[in-house]
Amino acid sequence: MKRIGMLTSGGDCQALNATMRGIAKGLYTIYGDEVEIIGFEDGYRGMIYADYRIMQPSDFSGILTVGGTMLGTSRTPFKYLDEPDENGLDKVASMVHTYRKLKLDALCVLGGNGSLKTANRLSQEGLNVIGLPKTIDNDTWGTDMTFGFQSAVDIASKAIDDIHTTAASHGRVFIVEVMGHKVGWLTLYAGIAGGADIILIPEIPYDIDKVTKAIEARNKAGKRFSILAVAEGAISKENAALGKKELKKKKEKGLVYPSVAYEIAAEISEKLGSEVRVTVPGHTQRGGEPCPYDRVLSTRLGAEAARLIEKGVFGVLVSVKNQEISKTPLEEIAGKLKYVDPKADIIREAKLVGICFGD
Ligand code: F6P
Repeated sequence: MKRIGMLTSGGDCQALNATMRGIAKGLYTIYGDEVEIIGFEDGYRGMIYADYRIMQPSDFSGILTVGGTMLGTSRTPFKYLDEPDENGLDKVASMVHTYRKLKLDALCVLGGNGSLKTANRLSQEGLNVIGLPKTIDNDTWGTDMTFGFQSAVDIASKAIDDIHTTAASHGRVFIVEVMGHKVGWLTLYAGIAGGADIILIPEIPYDIDKVTKAIEARNKAGKRFSILAVAEGAISKENAALGKKELKKKKEKGLVYPSVAYEIAAEISEKLGSEVRVTVPGHTQRGGEPCPYDRVLSTRLGAEAARLIEKGVFGVLVSVKNQEISKTPLEEIAGKLKYVDPKADIIREAKLVGICFGD
């Protein structure tokens, strides 16, 4: 009898259930009745405190299109992993103990960067770990694509699409703030797909004067409105030149805005005297059902995880490389972020069609 653990960790996204379904269906095809799947509740927390349930094949039916995660999720920050919990419990030792006690043959971790760092740590502790790249941010190193990303692109693009009519009616400047943590993938794709006029991403620090000039140029060309897609991690050239500590100090001293979109809105408003509105789709970008692309991707990633378990290949992230399902060693990806390259073709092409990046 094979015993396989699975957990979903970190911020949720679409297609977590679809990925677990892919793994489970693959395992049931390979092992038939000779496999038992153990689902840990709320991510690594379930492993630390041995909070788990034995999954049944029926648990994996009817969930291909269901958003969220049936196992629940939580954040177990990597930087505190080696700090004992409030009762003095050693978290890593406890997870290793749970794995051994349950006589697991493998553990599948559906997670983003932080969670995959912990997955790598558990792999180094001798557990058979397979990672699956989950995040709407698409910032996981070692894979061209993460599941959840395309679904979030759909939602953020729709938000930008819908702003067009009201922006045109009122002749206003609108900012749609897009998630993505420290990287700009989601904003870049949603911005292009939604026809944003200006796209601001963390990898290309902006100059507010360039932004206002782009808006003025549109006004002069007779365009009644301008739409900006701004990444939640967007940063000005001025702030990008500061060190982390200096930036923190500056922010403490200055006016504190709820987020960067509001700061940019205030600056545009002051410089151009125009009305600026901010829309923040926020966590809706992680919500709802996975788009068909993500359903296919997660099914393929999940099935490949099952195949790797059968082959006894562990310590890897199931990944996508050049449209094919592949694998990348966890130790190679741990601690790295996949940023947008400001010199990438997609940026050049976006600029060619007139999109301003504020640089
Ligand atoms: O990593 C996914 C993500 O949605 C980011 O885009 C965002 O910055 C963050 O999680 C939000 O985290 P939380 O759910 O803790 O608010």
